[in-house]
Amino acid sequence: MDDIIIGQSAPVKDLKRLIEVVATASTNVLVLGETGTGKELVARALHAQSGRKGKLISVNCAAIPSELLESELFGHEKGAFTGADKARAGRFEMAKGGTLFLDEIGDMPLALQSKLLRALEDKAIQRVGGGADVPVDFRLICATHQKIEQKVDEGSFRADLYFRINVFPVQVPTLAERSVDIPLIAEAILGQMTADQNIVKPQLDESAWSELSRYPWPGNIRELRNVLERAAVLFAGQAISGKHVKENLLRLKVPDRREEQDALWAASEDLMGIDGSASPIVDLPLPRPSHYADWFSYFDTIDLRRHLRDVEVVLIEAALEKSDGMVSHAANALKLQRTTLIEKMKKLMIERPTPPKSERSNELTP
Ligand SMILES: Nc1ncnc2c1ncn2[C@@H]1O[C@H](COP(=O)(O)OP(=O)(O)O)[C@@H](O)[C@H]1O
Ligand SMILES: [Mg+2]
Repeated sequence: MDDIIIGQSAPVKDLKRLIEVVATASTNVLVLGETGTGKELVARALHAQSGRKGKLISVNCAAIPSELLESELFGHEKGAFTGADKARAGRFEMAKGGTLFLDEIGDMPLALQSKLLRALEDKAIQRVGGGADVPVDFRLICATHQKIEQKVDEGSFRADLYFRINVFPVQVPTLAERSVDIPLIAEAILGQMTADQNIVKPQLDESAWSELSRYPWPGNIRELRNVLERAAVLFAGQAISGKHVKENLLRLKVPDRREEQDALWAASEDLMGIDGSASPIVDLPLPRPSHYADWFSYFDTIDLRRHLRDVEVVLIEAALEKSDGMVSHAANALKLQRTTLIEKMKKLMIERPTPPKSERSNELTP
């Protein structure tokens, strides 16, 4: 199993233990997890460990048009519909003695859900256009990235089917939850890539690895694979630094929470260094408005009002600090009316850092 599901992190060890326990039973398993977490590999591992003699037959319910899904699953008799010039066994029959893996079960149309439920209850099916009952014998594994309970509440997924397929839920951890596995998984993926394609393995330095482990990976392992492919193309055989990872290989996702807002600031500090030569004041390490033009290559969205407010707060506080808390001097430094500055300070809840110099010097005079 270690060659199917790569990883040594605690959540992955738990996952493997669970797979081992469940694999040999014939109970239905529902594999849950975000897109790209490796749900299909979990199905493969379950089948491999099950000892079942038959094959693993996979059907992606989201990838097959709903008109075709029924005959794909149930098979059809000759003449069942236009173009059915031969009888054909469906996936249910092909999975005999093995495992049927229904991927993206949440996308199965309601009408077909009823038929699937009946097949599971009767352990028999009828081909499309055929009368005879055909016995079926498979172990069912379903997977979804969707919240099926919600679909049940909305009426787009049958509750009785949900209870039947969800005998044993197996939750696959996100890549962010198992980021310590990233080097191991990346090595495996790069190893495969260099074997399959004519690729020279890129070399990631320590800062590159640390960028990869900080990234939230909304697309999970599938996204990691894409990033590594990009790396192999852009940096064939070369050294890759953290800066390369951030600027050329990753697109940071939207920060919402405070700590991520800080990450935004950290990223904007990095922007300062970029392309200073384009500006006449080269030595000043200050961000310039034009730098913000690059932001959308880092982020999908920017909270503009919040960011501008943060800029205001920082500059007003700095001006007050520089003027020893004297509002009129700070207002001059900011080219604002004194009253305007006071209004802003109230609105932004900024307090004067120190009492005005006059008061302070009084205090200090013995
Ligand atoms: N533990 C893992 N080690 C290596 N590659 C993995 C692992 N888990 C997933 N992958 C790879 O990530 C990609 C997405 O996996 P997949 O099972 O299709 O995800 P899901 O079905 O959850 O969206 C595939 O290319 C798969 O080979
Ligand atoms: Mg999948």
